[in-house]
Amino acid sequence: MPEYARNQPAGFKNVIERVAIAGAGGTVGSHLVATILQTGKHTITALSRKDSSNTLPTGVLVAPIDYDDESTIVAALKGQQFFIITLAPTAPRDTHSKLVQGAAKAGVSYIMPNEYAGDIEQVKLGQEVMLGPVAKANRDDIERLGMRWITVCCGFWYDYSLAGGEARLGFDFDKRSLTIYDDGNTKNSVSTLSQVGRAVAKVLSLKELPDDENDKSITLSSWLNKPFYIKSFVLSQNEIFGSVKRVTGTSDADWTITHEATKQRYDNGLAQGKSGNKLGFIRLLYARMFYPDDASELSAKAQNELLGVPEEDLDEATEAGVGMVKQLQHRPERMAA
Ligand SMILES: NC(=O)c1ccc[n+]([C@@H]2O[C@H](COP(=O)([O-])OP(=O)(O)OC[C@H]3O[C@@H](n4cnc5c(N)ncnc54)[C@H](OP(=O)(O)O)[C@@H]3O)[C@@H](O)[C@H]2O)c1
Repeated sequence: MPEYARNQPAGFKNVIERVAIAGAGGTVGSHLVATILQTGKHTITALSRKDSSNTLPTGVLVAPIDYDDESTIVAALKGQQFFIITLAPTAPRDTHSKLVQGAAKAGVSYIMPNEYAGDIEQVKLGQEVMLGPVAKANRDDIERLGMRWITVCCGFWYDYSLAGGEARLGFDFDKRSLTIYDDGNTKNSVSTLSQVGRAVAKVLSLKELPDDENDKSITLSSWLNKPFYIKSFVLSQNEIFGSVKRVTGTSDADWTITHEATKQRYDNGLAQGKSGNKLGFIRLLYARMFYPDDASELSAKAQNELLGVPEEDLDEATEAGVGMVKQLQHRPERMAA
């Protein structure tokens, strides 16, 4: 049955005012918080481990939680309408489900699960990068407990991936080396971290429900138990390299370039990952997303216009990525083998 604002109980306000987020100080979480705060339409409560070293922007309410004490999670989520989960990939596997169970007990309606990746409808790709089944289980968990999810399909984060070393988009800025996958012409849909933030803030600022059956405006409920799609650019590695050269004032002669077949890189990454090298799984992931016959390319589904997010300038985004190199090097849990 379609839900309309006019059928809701007295006192219903057709807006999302109370947003909770786990991981508010993280890579994507900090961008989400910044843009959501900018709208001035929501209070943000950050669920943060009680011993967290993250610093959060002024205006965010902090709810310290203990993952081993569910009552702290439930208390933090009481009264919240929308719960965004962003978790470090290194967080224990059951962390997501602890948050989801707490949200169900607290009466939260909507959850954005930890995902922020490619198109969830590319099922084979999801299986082959091993992240798809985990994310699907997280979404199923939410539904099973009577809540609804909205997930963001954004492809790789462009700035982060560019800065993240050879294992990701192939660039090592310290060594000025680049590994090109296949011929370097396969395209991927990518999003900047700020574009992801803008899109999420936009969805949260929509009306929750249509007023009535005549209301055809887009509402948050348009995406319940569905993904929304966003992109900044659709780029091949060769195009990224072109932008990198413009931004850094370098030419081909300044770079050491090697080529690797994506299939071989996937297999090597898998073997490295299995023998304990964490970057092996990252290599496998990026190689697989660039398979020429099944790349991560969701631009035909991108809802940028519907959401009214801006066009971005490639070289500005590349500059932001180059600016993140040192910052990421200080995160060995993500960047080291
Ligand atoms: N599309 C892409 O290119 C891309 C790239 C990387 C990641 N991702 C996705 O985005 C998600 C979020 O990544 P991110 O880089 O934003 O995460 P992150 O910054 O590494 O971590 C987010 C938050 O997780 C919490 N956390 C850290 N360790 C934890 C632990 N052991 N137990 C429980 N909580 C822990 C911390 O919050 P508190 O300290 O406040 O508790 C941290 O701020 C990833 O899981 C992945 O699904 C996508």
